[in-house]
Amino acid sequence: MFGRMPGSLDAPQRVRNRFTTKAQQFDDLYEDERPLVKLLRPGLFRRRQLAVDTVAGYEQPAVLDVGCGSGRIGEFVLEAGAGRYVGIDFSEPMIDMSEQRLERFGERATLITGDFLTAHFDERFDVLLALGLFDYLPNPEDFAARMFELCSPGGCVVGSFPAWSWMKGPVRKVRYEWIGDCPIFNYTREGLEKMFQAAGFSRVEIFAPGHSGFLLRVHR
Ligand SMILES: C[S@@+](CC[C@H](N)C(=O)[O-])C[C@H]1O[C@@H](n2cnc3c(N)ncnc32)[C@H](O)[C@@H]1O
Repeated sequence: MFGRMPGSLDAPQRVRNRFTTKAQQFDDLYEDERPLVKLLRPGLFRRRQLAVDTVAGYEQPAVLDVGCGSGRIGEFVLEAGAGRYVGIDFSEPMIDMSEQRLERFGERATLITGDFLTAHFDERFDVLLALGLFDYLPNPEDFAARMFELCSPGGCVVGSFPAWSWMKGPVRKVRYEWIGDCPIFNYTREGLEKMFQAAGFSRVEIFAPGHSGFLLRVHR
């Protein structure tokens, strides 16, 4: 009765549309030096730093970047010593930008246009990245379970997760869902621990970078 109208797009298609039409706008956030944007975006740089630190803690790890976007994280983790980097994203313009940005790393970097849940991978990875991804997933448990399957023993997942806050929550809701027709989801500390433990991960480290979200590193 209250579902979407017949013929309207489901959640993943709406997310894909957003990051197809707004790929350049998302990429520009990384360079935007306007004080207000910088103030609202510290999470972008904190999560990238956790990815870099984690990759640097392994010896030439194989890295899978789920929802890799425009390669902004990829270039840093490759510089930090990733032996192999695979980025997957279902937005073509994002993958186009990644290809340009990561071209200099040659065969160490592979980019795939596709949906993470249905894509086939022949290999397992030491570090999986899920940065700015879980914000848009109606079925996060399926992603956590698939990440566990693809994670090598001793490997880990680094992810970022928004939490509801009265400061940012209403603005995000209006901006993404009402204006942008893109679903967004929030997480709690307890919910995250439960979800990753249910997926099979043994240790969950939670870093709360601010009022509006969590950074996680979960170990297989
Ligand atoms: C906010 S962007 C983050 C990009 C990048 N991780 C970063 O932090 O710069 C989220 C990306 O996830 C991608 N994405 C969302 N769901 C996906 C799925 N099921 N499979 C592949 N990519 C997905 C979107 O297309 C988008 O490019």
